[in-house]
Amino acid sequence: MDFSFRIDDTRSIYSPGFVVFYEPLVSNLHEMLRIAGDVKRLRPHCKTHKIREIAEMQVAAGIDKFKCATFAEAEMLARAGATDIFLAYNLVGPNIERSVQFVTQYPDVSLLVTVDHRLPLGQLSAAMSGAGREIGVLLDLDSGLHRTGRPADDAALQLYGQIVDLPGVTPAGLHLYDGQNHQTDLDQRRSAVLVGWQVAIEFRDRLTGRGWPVPRIVAGGTGSFPIFAELDDAGLELSPGTPVFFDSGYAARFPDLNFVPAARILTRVISRPTPSRICCDLGTKACASDPPSGSRMIIPDLPEARQVMHNEEHLVLETELAERYSPGDELLVIPCHVCPTTALYQHVHVIREGQLWTTWNVVARDRVLSV
Ligand SMILES: Cc1ncc(COP(=O)(O)O)c(C=O)c1O
Repeated sequence: MDFSFRIDDTRSIYSPGFVVFYEPLVSNLHEMLRIAGDVKRLRPHCKTHKIREIAEMQVAAGIDKFKCATFAEAEMLARAGATDIFLAYNLVGPNIERSVQFVTQYPDVSLLVTVDHRLPLGQLSAAMSGAGREIGVLLDLDSGLHRTGRPADDAALQLYGQIVDLPGVTPAGLHLYDGQNHQTDLDQRRSAVLVGWQVAIEFRDRLTGRGWPVPRIVAGGTGSFPIFAELDDAGLELSPGTPVFFDSGYAARFPDLNFVPAARILTRVISRPTPSRICCDLGTKACASDPPSGSRMIIPDLPEARQVMHNEEHLVLETELAERYSPGDELLVIPCHVCPTTALYQHVHVIREGQLWTTWNVVARDRVLSV
């Protein structure tokens, strides 16, 4: 489907400005639902948008389960009406007490968290049972990403047994995030995803064989969830995050996906220091710098421009077309990695049918809301 990325009047948009095009945003939401096959299988991650209004759109579309990585995101989701929130993060230190505070403040929300070590599990159990509360705990499995999680071995089995036995915590299943499965070739990606899945379901069999409940396996990101979605497994929940906005990094990596980069950054030329060079107000404080310099964005109107310098507040481009640009001229840029880019903005401008329709606060970019 072709979308127009026109903005009729940009005068009230300060640059750099994060703009979200509403029609492709809605299309991405529908595409995510279509791939999942059934809205009940989705547990989308909210880290990409961190915006209450987008979570409300997802709730209105029938999504009743969410994933997040921070307490601020969890609270943003609760305020949007979510009642089943998986904080897919290992709680340590004061975050253990914070989880008690969260379940006390949001008694209608079922909060789930991950664990991969007996020490914080014991602390969580003591804190929850001491407060007369319960929390669902998923065992984090290492899918091969080697970031967090345990291999599916005897020690992991013992840890799950502790979740079953301890007071204040209830066994809530397994977490399998395979962010390493970024193969562009779909067959290669599928093979890698299914190897991880096989390990997880064999491990689940060992747990259920002991009579322990394993109500869910939460799996996947953008590249792998369409592959998980092909499986017929009642406990499987799909947790993509990036599809809402999508970005140029995933568009290049996953040509099999039909999501559209719906979020762009409006930048203005601030200088043309040489005949072949322009400088825009789009530094690393306005567009994420986690891909290497030179590849941090796509500029559809200047595809051949070389990104030769990227400082905190400046983006310098070398292009034969520089002389066409004067200070004040505008460009729309697609970030390579949208998730950390969104978090650089207080609010986003929403463009609907070419008009500035509204603005939404990126409320969960803050580390603390009220809990
Ligand atoms: C634990 C976890 N789940 C889900 C996701 C969503 O993955 P993606 O950004 O590929 O949609 C992420 C992304 O970082 C993640 O860390």
